[in-house]
Amino acid sequence: MAIDQKLLDELERRQAEALASGGPERIAKRHAQGRLTARERLDGLYAPGTFQEFGLHAQHATRGFGMDKKSLPTDGVITGIGFVDGRPVAGFSQDFMIAGGSLGSVHAHKICELMDHAARAGMPIIGFNDSGGARIQEGVESLSGYGQVFNRNVLMSGVVPQIAVICGPCAGGAVYSPALMDFLIMTRHSASMFICGPEVIRAVTGQHTTTEEIGSAEAHARDSGNIHFIAEDDRHALDLAHQLLSYLPSNNMSEPPHRLETEVTLRDDPQIEALIPSDPKAPYDVKDIIARLTDGGEFMEVQRDFAQNLVIGFGRIDGVVLGIVANQPKVKAGTLDIDASDKGARFIRFCNIFNIPLLTLVDVPGFLPGVAQEKQGIIRHGAKMLFAYGASTVPKITVIMRKAYGGAFLAMCSRDMGADLVLAWPTAEIAVMGAEGAINIVYRREIDAAEDKAARRSELIDSYRAEFASPYQSAARLFVHDVIRPQRTRSAVSLGLRSLLSKRETRPPKKHGNIPL
Ligand code: HXC
Repeated sequence: MAIDQKLLDELERRQAEALASGGPERIAKRHAQGRLTARERLDGLYAPGTFQEFGLHAQHATRGFGMDKKSLPTDGVITGIGFVDGRPVAGFSQDFMIAGGSLGSVHAHKICELMDHAARAGMPIIGFNDSGGARIQEGVESLSGYGQVFNRNVLMSGVVPQIAVICGPCAGGAVYSPALMDFLIMTRHSASMFICGPEVIRAVTGQHTTTEEIGSAEAHARDSGNIHFIAEDDRHALDLAHQLLSYLPSNNMSEPPHRLETEVTLRDDPQIEALIPSDPKAPYDVKDIIARLTDGGEFMEVQRDFAQNLVIGFGRIDGVVLGIVANQPKVKAGTLDIDASDKGARFIRFCNIFNIPLLTLVDVPGFLPGVAQEKQGIIRHGAKMLFAYGASTVPKITVIMRKAYGGAFLAMCSRDMGADLVLAWPTAEIAVMGAEGAINIVYRREIDAAEDKAARRSELIDSYRAEFASPYQSAARLFVHDVIRPQRTRSAVSLGLRSLLSKRETRPPKKHGNIPL
């Protein structure tokens, strides 16, 4: 007995109809624009042959507007599970060629089912957003659909990693599902994202603007900080998604993909010492230091264009995945400001949720002074860094390279803020404030009375540095575990990480802390 051929033909016919999407002409048009189709995006994400689709045969529930007679195969979104590097990942991809990828009730239901599946099974979810937004013909049903998706974004937050790829239009309230996710990748030329577009802004406020100014990938990467990565095109977005997943665990109960078979390096790296300027005030690029510390110099920088005075991202040291947070002395002298604090705090919290150890590289002269910073709430925003580090229970290693002054010293994960291991270089200056400021406050009269004021000032600065700001002062009080040559940093951090991988820390039970938002 063999299966009835008619049944097989009917299956094939239905599959072919759904897979046809917008048809060959519209597909060719997309390709000509250098864009992939919704299905090609998922094909590029997953290992060949591993995608199991859920809901290929779904149909819309839209009534009225002549929609009853229309067929919308898949209802404009492809959903399913496939494998990336041998691990299952849930994916949905909105198909702009089916009713503009607009979200109706069935479309929303498919995404919600997939999200529930991902949360139950503990796998990351990636959504490709390319949509005209709420399906106008379904009215409040589509708003309800968005509500159901947003609510699941929140429920899943901290359970599995959520990644949004913005690769087409994404407007109005629709932006909030990506905004509730952990990482946003946006394509440079074909995507846009805003709550109110230029037309609405002009009609309501009279202000003239453009999509480039408020809704482009560049604007969101550089100005608003809403996105984490710019992709040159769809293929590059897939590369970035693969790279990101290679650092992340599948869920909050599992370990990140450490490569623990890698041997711990116990070799010194003299080249790192050549990167530190002899003038303690001279800037340098902290990314050069990071490249000396991570395996193969590889570092996946997150939010590269936003708040560049703080560098964040993922790397590995001797196979161990870690999140790196580093002051950048060559931008705003590495000070912490509002945007840097927001950027850092969210990243620290992400790492904590997903068991990713934190390495903090400190060279911070303080919080950025200024009227605008004070007025816009640097107190509230800076407190996020303190809160995020204080609340994190993952292994935390801090290396004080040069300046570590005042509140910013604490906000960069000092021992008292919960660092498990604090190492300082001989170049470290750890103090309540910088030498110049401190001397002016404490010794102003003495300097004024001196015959050679400049000579007396510089004498006092030197003695302040030696007596009050030297790393040995901090080491003597055990605020620093050890003062090491910079060339030993990689091996010391590597050994520290290995010894801390089994770290367990329990906190008093509570619903959640109240981070100053
Ligand atoms: C139903 C839609 C649609 C929508 C597009 N389409 N958006 N159908 N509901 N929201 C359909 C079009 O009718 C067209 O169908 C097809 O998709 C392609 O659209 P075009 O306009 O031809 O494409 P293009 O010129 O590339 O323009 C793309 C676009 C434009 C800029 C996205 O379609 C547009 O402005 N759409 C409306 C956007 C919008 O205002 N959405 C509602 C936002 S309010 P045919 O059959 O001709 O191919 C919202 C609230 C969410 O989303 C709140 C959540 C909390």
